[in-house]
Amino acid sequence: MASDVTTTQPQSWVDTPPNNPPIRKASANLITHMSWLDKLSNPLQRGISQLFGQPGQFPYKIKDALNGVWLGHTLHPVLVSIPLGAWTATMLLDLAWLSEEDEGTARNADRTMWLGLAGAGASAVTGATNWVDTDGPEQRTGMLHALLNGSVAIMNLSSTLMRLGGLRRPAIALSTGAYLVTLYSAYLGGELSLSSGVGVNHVAWEGGSDDFVAVMDEKDLQPGKLTRVDVAGIPAVLIKDGGSIYAIAATCSHLGGPLDEGKYEDGVVYCPWHGSGFHMCDGSVANSPAVYAQPTFAIRTRNGKIELRRLEHA
Ligand code: FES
Repeated sequence: MASDVTTTQPQSWVDTPPNNPPIRKASANLITHMSWLDKLSNPLQRGISQLFGQPGQFPYKIKDALNGVWLGHTLHPVLVSIPLGAWTATMLLDLAWLSEEDEGTARNADRTMWLGLAGAGASAVTGATNWVDTDGPEQRTGMLHALLNGSVAIMNLSSTLMRLGGLRRPAIALSTGAYLVTLYSAYLGGELSLSSGVGVNHVAWEGGSDDFVAVMDEKDLQPGKLTRVDVAGIPAVLIKDGGSIYAIAATCSHLGGPLDEGKYEDGVVYCPWHGSGFHMCDGSVANSPAVYAQPTFAIRTRNGKIELRRLEHA
């Protein structure tokens, strides 16, 4: 018998419970309705991607450096602390100046404004290289985050120039407004990272067995073919290259892509989602967008079986 009950499919998490906390829900609801951001994001992401080219080309090395491969850590949150700290100091110095109008305090406030602007420039570049490999809600939220930060930079540059021109009180009002916008933008940055997992290590919480686990017959492992196996609940990818067998975690540390569905060339496995490269011999990053090494496994063969044991996380 046909049912006359109709259902509405939720479009995003804002259409589903829970309704609290209301500020987070309101922010997500706002972004859900800002589809115009996608019209900016798509061509901008294409342009940035073309600028850096492909892994192996020289410009891509710059992207690797900006993402933080050399640091083994996402670079953007490190640099973000500069403008946030500097402009917080400006606020405090401005408060002190408003009560005493001390010239030295004013000069120090000017210096922290310039420091914040320099840090904001570096943060913007590293943020863009993180964002370029996102899509969907993260792409849209990142675009809004960038536009808000760009507005803050313009407001604070204007405020700095006004201070130099002797218009200190309206300049303080402007930079204080910019600080409030910064707080919301920082909240969005936190959402992207802490809630949506952009820039975090997607294999950080994979445990695994401390004992060797038999995963497949050695005779079934074809040379040069990426092969996915289960190691007591943890997916790993195996490769037989020459006389050696290597194994690393199959879940890409960047955003969780399946490495076993990628390609293998010259000792490196490339993720099918955004092209991160990892050395199969030790899990280290060959190229970004990933910056965190893949967990690796100790390997032995016994009675014709390949056995793996998870090693400590890099
Ligand atoms: S998930 Fe992005 S490169 Fe692997």
